[in-house]
Amino acid sequence: MVMESKLEIKKRLHKLFADKKTDCAKSIYMNPVNQYIDLDRFDQEKEEIFKNQPICIGTSSLIPNIGDWFTVEIVDHPILVVRDKDKKINAYLNICSHRGSKLAEGNGNTAKVFKCPYHSWTYSLNGELIARPREDSFNQIPKNKCNLKSIELREQSGLLWVQLTKNAVKESEKYFKELNTLIDHYNLTNYHYFKTGIMKPKINWKLAVDTFLELYHIAHLHPDTLSNIIKGDTCMFDTYGRHMRIIGPRRSLIESKENILEIENIEKHIINLKIIFPNTVFVDNGEHIDLWHILPENSVNETMVSVSIFTKLPCKTDSEIKHWENNLQLLKDVVEKEDFPLGEGIQKGFYADKKRNIIFGKNEPGLQHFHKNVDKFLSK
Ligand code: FES
Ligand SMILES: [Fe+2]
Repeated sequence: MVMESKLEIKKRLHKLFADKKTDCAKSIYMNPVNQYIDLDRFDQEKEEIFKNQPICIGTSSLIPNIGDWFTVEIVDHPILVVRDKDKKINAYLNICSHRGSKLAEGNGNTAKVFKCPYHSWTYSLNGELIARPREDSFNQIPKNKCNLKSIELREQSGLLWVQLTKNAVKESEKYFKELNTLIDHYNLTNYHYFKTGIMKPKINWKLAVDTFLELYHIAHLHPDTLSNIIKGDTCMFDTYGRHMRIIGPRRSLIESKENILEIENIEKHIINLKIIFPNTVFVDNGEHIDLWHILPENSVNETMVSVSIFTKLPCKTDSEIKHWENNLQLLKDVVEKEDFPLGEGIQKGFYADKKRNIIFGKNEPGLQHFHKNVDKFLSK
């Protein structure tokens, strides 16, 4: 499948507006609430989805220079991602070979080595153990048997995925074949990383993903914030295997006097969400990209959500920094003060009647597609 032209997008939007319609699923879909609270199901999702599928964790522009690094945690696997001396990006288990301390937390730049905080065992950017105090107490185990454990890492279009198991590596061929049409015309290495915000809502990870899978709620839940930017109830929807895309109009498109077909830079008047299965939402806003990652925490009711902003132009002056700070704050405020508090109420309500279903309308095809795919990979 080839990505359609801008004209084709304009024609589809034009028709949706003319017909007063939105792209729809064939029928309504009932989703059991138990899937958001059941502990066995949660374990199965961690195993079959987060360990046995490639998981997108960020972009290579987060760590542009030799020795730049960041950490991430995927279902009990602490991971250290580092750019080595050959400028190659590697991922390791962020676990010291001595007694298991984490080597690093957060992110940093131009590290020469990683020194464990516990007893100072020291590793190169390639994960090799290069020094350990009182070497003679440990020399029964050669140093090269104590290197950090490597994790398969894949870079595509400037995005990074980890593949925790052999199954994930096996699955990746199909996964990326499905994804390529959606992202291969991007090169995120050309974008500039600005900043990341972190949120920890007390909701199931799928409920956090659901937040991003329909624009139907924008006018109702976000009347004073997002609704001023996005007009929610007319959307294009497309699937790319397990992945998907939602395109919705910005207010500027609705308010434009021009015929949609005549509009020059349509990308400035739409919001283009690419949902990379299972946990990443890539929002192309024309001048910048918001990248959301959603990862389950230790409990079925706890999730980590991060949002990072990448800009087309470098952000240098005070006013540019302020502009993007405000932008990040707006994103965080909308999600943290409007979406997630409501989601926490929904999550609690699931326990009131575990046999209940929630309803995904025909106008919510993204939710339907996502949950059908989660089910599909669990029943493999
Ligand atoms: S645990 Fe890392 S040096 Fe001891
Ligand atoms: Fe929302």
